[in-house]
Amino acid sequence: MTDNRSKFVKYIESHQQDLINILAEAIAIPSVSGDASYRPEVLRMGKWLHEKLGALGAQTELFELGRQNLDGHDIELPPVIVAKYGNDPAKKTILVYGHYDVQPALKSDGWDTEPFSLHVSEATGKLVGRGATDDKGPVLGWLNVIEAHRALGLDLPVNLQLCLEGMEESGSVGLDEFVERNAKTLFKDVDAVCISDNYWLGTTKPCITHGLRGVAYFKLTVHGPAADLHSGVFGGMIHEPMTDLVHVMASLVTPDAKIAIPGIYDQVAPLTPEERKRFEVMEFSISDVDNSTGSKSTVSEDKVEVLMSRMRYPSLSLHGIEGAFAEPGSKTVIPAKVTGKFSIRLVPDMEPETCVDCVRKHVESEFAKLHSKNTIKLEPDHPGKPWTVDPNHWNYEAATRATELIYGVKPDLTREGGSIPITLTFADALGKNVLLLPMGRADDGAHSTNEKLDLSNYVKGTELLGTYLYEVA
Ligand code: BES
Ligand code: ZN
Repeated sequence: MTDNRSKFVKYIESHQQDLINILAEAIAIPSVSGDASYRPEVLRMGKWLHEKLGALGAQTELFELGRQNLDGHDIELPPVIVAKYGNDPAKKTILVYGHYDVQPALKSDGWDTEPFSLHVSEATGKLVGRGATDDKGPVLGWLNVIEAHRALGLDLPVNLQLCLEGMEESGSVGLDEFVERNAKTLFKDVDAVCISDNYWLGTTKPCITHGLRGVAYFKLTVHGPAADLHSGVFGGMIHEPMTDLVHVMASLVTPDAKIAIPGIYDQVAPLTPEERKRFEVMEFSISDVDNSTGSKSTVSEDKVEVLMSRMRYPSLSLHGIEGAFAEPGSKTVIPAKVTGKFSIRLVPDMEPETCVDCVRKHVESEFAKLHSKNTIKLEPDHPGKPWTVDPNHWNYEAATRATELIYGVKPDLTREGGSIPITLTFADALGKNVLLLPMGRADDGAHSTNEKLDLSNYVKGTELLGTYLYEVA
């Protein structure tokens, strides 16, 4: 068994160009789930993966999830791909989840190279392109593991099952029901789950992850005049929607990133001394954040405070205002209708419904203070619950040993600030342990311009995913 693992690792080391080639193919498909006009590309990406898995000898099936209405367009939802590799009752069955959709990207956002064309920097060893780290690199990591075993004529040490979706960046529409519906059929043999869709805490030390924040997204619309108006003609005479909205949005959060909505912190589980210790021992410094953000902008210089504010406290971010004048130049308009977008990251023991109630009460009371004649409407969107799990489990022990074998260090045990909505559904519907085993680093720039995955993380990460299968077996 160990011998097979060494052969596998050697194979990956000597086939790096093949790994790069398959990533380049995947990145060239702009599978942006959040934009209706890109939906055919998301469907193409699903088909591409399905065919690749088939060619690798997996038993693979595409499951249609129906249709959705996205910004007024009635479009097909991307299929879920469920592939099985191996069917030996004597072996454990490991379910792997990943997503094949990506965030939007345009060169004009500030990318140095075309986002949907993999750029390999020989100088820095970076593989740059949308989806490199989130989540195409890690998904292909699993495919690389299968390919290597096939080429070497080796059986995998476990029965591997893959569940790949194309809507993660847009709230995993339809996936919860799919997993719940199939828990006792398609997924009945699963012993444990592994997800590679998060990042190291810094840039040098690997980690394994046992928690994610949930997220509640909100759209807040202020409606005023029937059409956009000239500010020279109407400015000063009327209540302006944008002024109202900015006041209400500013009341949600303080400049030092504390949520100003009454009741939110009341729901947060109290911090125990043991939990605090977990944050104290994480190898992390403020400069890790500075390096990732390219700025010096943390709200505190205390490492533990900063870590906890990402991993175990809620946060509220303001994302944008639809309908506001945002182009270059100086247009003297009064926008008639504006929609502010913000979200709250949720932590244990917050309930999305209670959070939505607190937001609604606060927004209504702040708006009332303005004595405006405009109207306001709050629309909460797809809330996802937070997830944590006790890492004292053979699944985590296997991942720890695998990390030690590949990187020679004991990984940090972290919780993540981001969200992967399906994680909790896997945990609840299958009743099995879920592990997060990241491939990329903190500074990969997921969702940002010039998103990258270091070649070394891609290669070692592929070796790690394969080695984890040996250890968990
Ligand atoms: N890969 C991320 C999840 C993630 C982000 C993990 C940051 C760790 C740190 C995932 O693809 C993602 O971005 N999820 C969305 C989910 C949302 C649309 C419901 C997120 O967190 O914003
Ligand atoms: Zn993402």
